[in-house]
Amino acid sequence: MNLMTRLTVAIPSHSYDVWIENGLLNRAGELVREVIGPRQKLFVVTVAPVRKKWGKKLAASLARADYKPQFLEMPDGERYKALATVETLAEQLVKLGADRRSAILAFGGGVIGDVAGFLASLYMRGVDFIQIPTTVLAQVDASIGGKTGVNLRAGKNLVGTFHQPKAVLIDPGVLVTLPEREYHAGLYEALKSGIIGDPNLFRLFENSRREILSRETQVLERVIADSVRLKANVVSSDERENGLRQVLNLGHTIGHALEAETAYRRFLHGEAIAWGMVAAANLALTTSRLDSVTAGRMTDAVLALGPLPKVAVRTRNIVKRLQSDKKTKNGVIHFILPREIGKVEIVDDVPERAVISAVDELRRVSGGR
Ligand SMILES: NC(=O)c1ccc[n+]([C@@H]2O[C@H](COP(=O)([O-])OP(=O)(O)OC[C@H]3O[C@@H](n4cnc5c(N)ncnc54)[C@H](O)[C@@H]3O)[C@@H](O)[C@H]2O)c1
Ligand SMILES: [Zn+2]
Repeated sequence: MNLMTRLTVAIPSHSYDVWIENGLLNRAGELVREVIGPRQKLFVVTVAPVRKKWGKKLAASLARADYKPQFLEMPDGERYKALATVETLAEQLVKLGADRRSAILAFGGGVIGDVAGFLASLYMRGVDFIQIPTTVLAQVDASIGGKTGVNLRAGKNLVGTFHQPKAVLIDPGVLVTLPEREYHAGLYEALKSGIIGDPNLFRLFENSRREILSRETQVLERVIADSVRLKANVVSSDERENGLRQVLNLGHTIGHALEAETAYRRFLHGEAIAWGMVAAANLALTTSRLDSVTAGRMTDAVLALGPLPKVAVRTRNIVKRLQSDKKTKNGVIHFILPREIGKVEIVDDVPERAVISAVDELRRVSGGR
């Protein structure tokens, strides 16, 4: 028997619910209707791999709820997360007669969520949209919080909006078709939620690792629900990322530098963040914020979800990147560091030599030298 989990992202003036249930896709139509009512036109923005595997199921369920969905496909991949794609989709919407009462369903991974959400925020100055995320990363992270956007040649996510969805519909069952590497990469972000603010979730990773890795839906539902709850709480108290929301960036300072240094080719985002969390545990240890047993548990929990690509980079280049990061002020690098399992803090007093040795340590642990 399935038990539906329903959580609320309580943002003033536009709070919305997140439904999580194995097999939810079969009743997505009914839920969409409950949230946005009848619509003349409903558009599903997706990518070919997701449409091929799950499109029929979604379409059938929407049809049962009296919708006539039209599917729009964008090419698959991060490099199509671009303004040109948004323009093409908007032109297609016009041709298909979309108006301000039309609604958009974002059906895919984080790329689809960001692009379709951005499109929804711009089309005719904004139409309703619903997230139906289909990767771990999108289910535990990207679909929650209302950040949308695309990349520019100059950098990732440089153009975007805040546009909250009307609802987020999560079916952990669709994760069975996710490629192995994508699956693991998303799990690191869920583990991150445990370290930031949910010791029980962290322990679930320690104690039910085998079930998680074999995609057992019951434990997966819990991993997703706990991660969503954590993100929903953080986002609710800081919608526009003024302060508190920064804690979600645990592992991202060094993770982003690793991604950029390897031209976004070597690591999936979650994999780079995994190394970033190992480095954060190390920095917390060397700056006396964390004891060695806890730091070891964190590192073990990350590495147990491996394998991870090697960190074969020049330490010096990583430090340079950290110092020129757009979030770095006056050369002072900000880190989110763990104090204990379930508690982190934002710090700006980490000495450069500690950073150097933490990156060296990543290279050593990964066998990347
Ligand atoms: N808005 C936010 O707050 C936020 C947060 C984190 C990340 N992001 C963004 O998310 C993006 C990364 O998302 P992602 O990792 O989901 O990548 P993605 O959307 O590219 O999906 C990864 C791959 O999995 C495939 N796929 C998706 N669902 C599938 C399924 N059920 N079965 C089989 N294949 C499937 C896709 O076709 C794609 O090839 C980045 O652009 C990142 O910037 C946004
Ligand atoms: Zn991330």
